[in-house]
Amino acid sequence: MLACRRQPVDRTPVWFMRQAGRYMAEYRALRAEHSLLDICAHPELAAEVTLQPVRALGVDAAILFADILLPLAPMGIDLEFAAGEGPVIHNPIRAADDVTALRPVDPRESLGHVLEAVRLARRELDGKIPLIGFAGAPFTLASYLIEGGSSRNYEKTKRLMVGDPQTWQALMGKLARVVADYLVAQVEAGAQAVQLFDSWVGALSPDDYREYVLPHSQLILREVSATGVPVIHFGTDTATLLPLMKEAGGDVIGLDWRTPLDWGWDQVGADSAVQGNLDPVALFAPRPELERRVRAILDQAAGRPGHIFNVGHGILPETPLENVHAVVEMVHEFSVREAV
Ligand code: CP3
Repeated sequence: MLACRRQPVDRTPVWFMRQAGRYMAEYRALRAEHSLLDICAHPELAAEVTLQPVRALGVDAAILFADILLPLAPMGIDLEFAAGEGPVIHNPIRAADDVTALRPVDPRESLGHVLEAVRLARRELDGKIPLIGFAGAPFTLASYLIEGGSSRNYEKTKRLMVGDPQTWQALMGKLARVVADYLVAQVEAGAQAVQLFDSWVGALSPDDYREYVLPHSQLILREVSATGVPVIHFGTDTATLLPLMKEAGGDVIGLDWRTPLDWGWDQVGADSAVQGNLDPVALFAPRPELERRVRAILDQAAGRPGHIFNVGHGILPETPLENVHAVVEMVHEFSVREAV
């Protein structure tokens, strides 16, 4: 919390994107019994998975267990997580009529199970560490809606964006409304910070970001910031977009591993905090190399207030848990030493 506001801290705080998930035996055991959507639909299960990495790793924040695609279902989207394939959308958006058919969402009604998971997780955390809520940003959600699933080149997405800008803007406007209301509802339910995931926006040029994305993310970030909680704005492959992402909003800008942390921080400016940015694949490295990389990131942050240590993108399924745990200890140990 303090780091989000660029206040001095005793040691650099650390948490990980996808800190709950398949690399953890406890999660795999639960997944053997329940589907991903099942876990998300049952607040007591979602809260339990939220707590698993807190107990196992000693991280400084919990992130709610949910998925960025959950708010699409009440909009009228038929969503499935197919084994081994990732998300599948059976009725993708292809034309203006499909956008018109998307329903508005009252998160308190149709996403009440997620809000209940926030309340339960807060209760179980008992004030020890903060709970981070999250949502997907309009571009990243639109890419799933239009492609029908994950994508490499975002061809259909960009063709709609460039070929039918009116439909694109209508879609992005609808998504921004839902996401803003959803994040504000998470804060009201008890989320103490929120992260907006624009994971795939790095597929765009700065000009396209400004025209087709920025106003929509900005609306969300403005409304959520007005609640008073710190907001983290994250994307990958965003080296050329960082100044525009900062303009869109957020107290903290997430950096992926492609961007040297000090260079990225220069891009967003000293009046923003930054989060990142260990390559998730470095978590497979032998301990001395992992340690070298953790130190390199802390050296680039150079003890300046406003650095939150994280991976540059989510933890991968095969990651050795003991290395993730070791990174928490390294960050805590090395950052205290450097502050002295
Ligand atoms: O970080 C956390 O610990 C909280 C949980 C979380 C999940 N999804 C659970 C999940 C978070 C923050 C997300 C966000 C999310 N979901 C993003 C943005 C972050 C990012 O990684 O860029 C995106 C793009 C999605 C969409 C999504 N969900 C995909 C592409 C997949 C399949 C990919 C895969 O790894 O299989 C999911 C499924 C998913 N969501 C899993 C988890 C733990 C893994 C699937 C499972 O348990 O079966």
